[in-house]
Amino acid sequence: MKATKKMGFVLAASFMMLFSAACGNSGGGSPSGGGTAAPAAGNTTAPKTQATAPADKKITLGFAQVGAESGWRTANTKSIQDSAKEAGFDLKFSDAQQKQENQIKAIRTYIQQKVDVISFSPVVESGWDTVLKEAKDAGIPVILTDRSVDSKDTSLYATFIGSDFVEEGKRAGKWVADKYKDAKEDVNIVELQGTTGSAPANDRKAGFAETIKGNAHLKIIASQTGDFTRAKGKEVMQAFLKANKKIDVLYAHNDDMALGAIQAIEAAGLKPGKDIVIVSVDGVKDGFVAASEGKINFIVECNPLLGPQLMQAVRDVVAGKQIPKRIVTEEGVFTSEDAKKALPNRQY
Ligand code: AHR
Repeated sequence: MKATKKMGFVLAASFMMLFSAACGNSGGGSPSGGGTAAPAAGNTTAPKTQATAPADKKITLGFAQVGAESGWRTANTKSIQDSAKEAGFDLKFSDAQQKQENQIKAIRTYIQQKVDVISFSPVVESGWDTVLKEAKDAGIPVILTDRSVDSKDTSLYATFIGSDFVEEGKRAGKWVADKYKDAKEDVNIVELQGTTGSAPANDRKAGFAETIKGNAHLKIIASQTGDFTRAKGKEVMQAFLKANKKIDVLYAHNDDMALGAIQAIEAAGLKPGKDIVIVSVDGVKDGFVAASEGKINFIVECNPLLGPQLMQAVRDVVAGKQIPKRIVTEEGVFTSEDAKKALPNRQY
C-alpha cells in the first residue's frame, strides 16, 4: 500500500460528533439534579450523578498518562497539555511510569479532588472495573484516549478516542505479505512486541498474524516484548540476533523499539533495511529520519495528536451532550520514499 492520508476524525465519527452537538441531550434522559451527561450510543446504563459544571466554571480535567516511554508518548502528552491550555481547562496531569497501580492511584486522587472529567490512556487492557465503578459512583465521567480497556460494562466510560490497533497490525502484515508473495523459501520474521497486556501490543500482534497467515513461508520465529522503549528494543534485538542465524524481517510494534533494534543490527555488522527488512508503527520524526535513510522500510502511522479531540469530548460531556462511544483516528502508511517527502513537514 502506498497511501499517505491526512490525520483526523473518520467521517463517520465526525458526523456523529456534529450530530450529537446538534442534538444535545435530547436522546439521553438526564437524571434529575442537573445536567447529567447522556449515555453514549450503545450504552444502556447511565452513570448515576454526572454533574454538569456551571457554564462560567473552569473545567477541571484529571489526566492519567501511561508514562514517557516513547517519542509517540512525548508528542501525545504535549498535544494534551497544549490543547487543555488552549481550551482554558484546569489540567491535572500525572505520569504513571508504565505502571497500572500508579494510574489507579492517580484516578482515585482525581475522584477525591472531584474533578469534572477523568481521562486516561490505560497501560494495560484488564483490571479497571473497580476504579471505573468508583468514578461512576462519584458521578465523574471517564474518557479513554489512545488505549482501551476490556471491561464488559461499557457504561463505565463515556467514549474511547484512539486508533484502530488491529488495523495498524494488518497494514504492517499486508505490506510484508505483498513484498514476499512470491517467496520460494521461508521468510524468518522476528517481532518486538509493545508492553505486555497493552491494547496496542495485543492488537498489533493479532492484526499482523491474521494478515500473514495465508502464506506458509512467512514465519514468526521469535516474538518478545521490548516494552515500547528504545533500550529494550535494542536489548531484545541483540538476543534475537544471537539466537537466530537468519533473520529476514523485523516487525516492531513502535518506532522506538525499531530504532533500538537498528543499533543492535548495525553493531552486529548488518545493514538495517537491507540485510533485515524493518517494519514499524507510529511515524514519529526519528522513525521518519530512519525511514528516509532506508533503515526502516515501512511505517504504519499511529496518530498521537489526540488533544483537540479529547478537549472537545470533555466539553461535550460536561455540557451533557451525547457523544459517540468510539471515535477512531484516521492514519496513513509510509514507505521510505514517502517518509523522505513527508519528513520536512512532520510535526512530531
Ligand atoms: O498506545 C500507543 C503506543 O504507545 C505507541 O505506538 C507507542 O509508541 C506508545 O508507547
